[in-house]
Amino acid sequence: MWQPDRLSKQPLYQQIADHLERRISFGEFPPSSLLPSERKLAEKLGVNRSTIVLAYAELRSLGVIESHSGSGTRVSKHKWGLTPRHTPNWHRYVEGGHFLPNLPFLRRIREALEQNRSLIDFASGELGADISPVAEINQLMSQDYYTEYLGYDNPQGFLPLRKSLVTYLDTYRNIPTTESSILITSGSQQSLYLITQCLLAPGDAVAIEDPSYYYSLPMFQSAGIRLFRLPVDRQGINPEDVRTLYKKHRIKMVFINPNHQNPSGVVLSPERQVELLNVSSELGLPIVEDDPFSLTTYNGIPTPPLKSIDTFGSVLYIGSMSKIAASGLRVGWMVAPRSVIERLADARQQMDYGLSVVPQRVAAQFLNSPLFEPHLERLRMRIQSKRDLLVTSLRKELGDMVSFDIPEGGLHLWCRIKPEVNESRLLEECIRRGVIYVPGSVYGSDSDYVRFTFARAREEDIVPGIAKFADALNTVLNDKI
Ligand SMILES: Cc1ncc(COP(=O)(O)O)c(C=O)c1O
Repeated sequence: MWQPDRLSKQPLYQQIADHLERRISFGEFPPSSLLPSERKLAEKLGVNRSTIVLAYAELRSLGVIESHSGSGTRVSKHKWGLTPRHTPNWHRYVEGGHFLPNLPFLRRIREALEQNRSLIDFASGELGADISPVAEINQLMSQDYYTEYLGYDNPQGFLPLRKSLVTYLDTYRNIPTTESSILITSGSQQSLYLITQCLLAPGDAVAIEDPSYYYSLPMFQSAGIRLFRLPVDRQGINPEDVRTLYKKHRIKMVFINPNHQNPSGVVLSPERQVELLNVSSELGLPIVEDDPFSLTTYNGIPTPPLKSIDTFGSVLYIGSMSKIAASGLRVGWMVAPRSVIERLADARQQMDYGLSVVPQRVAAQFLNSPLFEPHLERLRMRIQSKRDLLVTSLRKELGDMVSFDIPEGGLHLWCRIKPEVNESRLLEECIRRGVIYVPGSVYGSDSDYVRFTFARAREEDIVPGIAKFADALNTVLNDKI
């Protein structure tokens, strides 16, 4: 008798759905015939009933079977038998593309947040509504300026926004540039995507920080890129490690997030910045500097970016409105040599004809408006006060069971849990109690870390959120004893 293969990478429910679909298509179960009940089939195959529920749901979504309360699950009348099959096997298509799905933990987090809107959210790496410039953006958007004609625009980006960014980059990041060296993207994420798709090829090796936000992006693996680790200590990555990786693996590029790194919060020290640029110019190795968090530096004096001292033209600089204004605007930018910008703008044209002009106008107006600077000042203060609440409650609730460095900017706290725990179990216990965070392994780390984002949750939820986390952690640890 057929049994699912427990060692296969394909989920059990999918194997069962495929098997039943095959038997139905061979005529073993004719149209309208009754299928075994979920409980019976689960017993026969030695799986949980929930696995059969999922398998039947998959077949129902394909139109292969129908369930009616009281009359059980039957093979569809209309799809089978004499009538030709009409429903494509979407599952095979879905599995067939080369773009890999998100990591299971990230899919679980998204699902949990969708199912329960009142979860205390230490997982989403963004600003909460209470500290976003909602009123400012509303004020800008209510101006009649927005009734202008909306046509296809330059895929490189809306010119007034690129002009505003020239001033912004010079004022806030000490980066002198011109409109023609800027590409507007749909967030930093799209800059990373364009780089992997257009400037790298399958098989290329790149170096990324460990731990790193980039581990959470199967996008690199989808593009066939091999990732190598650069350990991060309190001063960031060690530039000598870049040289070693170059010698060993001929890395083609280095991706770093040097300012308030996600997830560790670390800032690459000015000495190491200089050393890194020296190594990169010696080897002719490009550096992608992903810099979304620097303007959140709580004391208002961010470390200048690598790009500001990049005399060799080695750095592709990436910025975004997401962590300083609103992630939903989807406005990001890249500063790069013109040949690179032109190549990537051409790719943009093929992908989506460029970002919608509407958020680009909002971003340009916000950057130029007298509302921007006071917003930044308020933002820094409020994120810092959320950080303080998190730090105090972690110490109070968990004491020696956790250790962390206190970040001086950014939205995240990278927290080590002393006794190692089962990551999935802890996450599920937290979700049950109404709180969520990101398990450390998402960032390529061992399972004894978690990332708490403190900018997203409301201030009043931070203390109860950590109490729930502590309760879940104690429960999971007690299990082990
Ligand atoms: C280091 C880093 N880079 C890029 C991104 C993507 O941001 P966005 O596309 O919203 O600008 C994030 C988001 O969390 C991030 O943490």
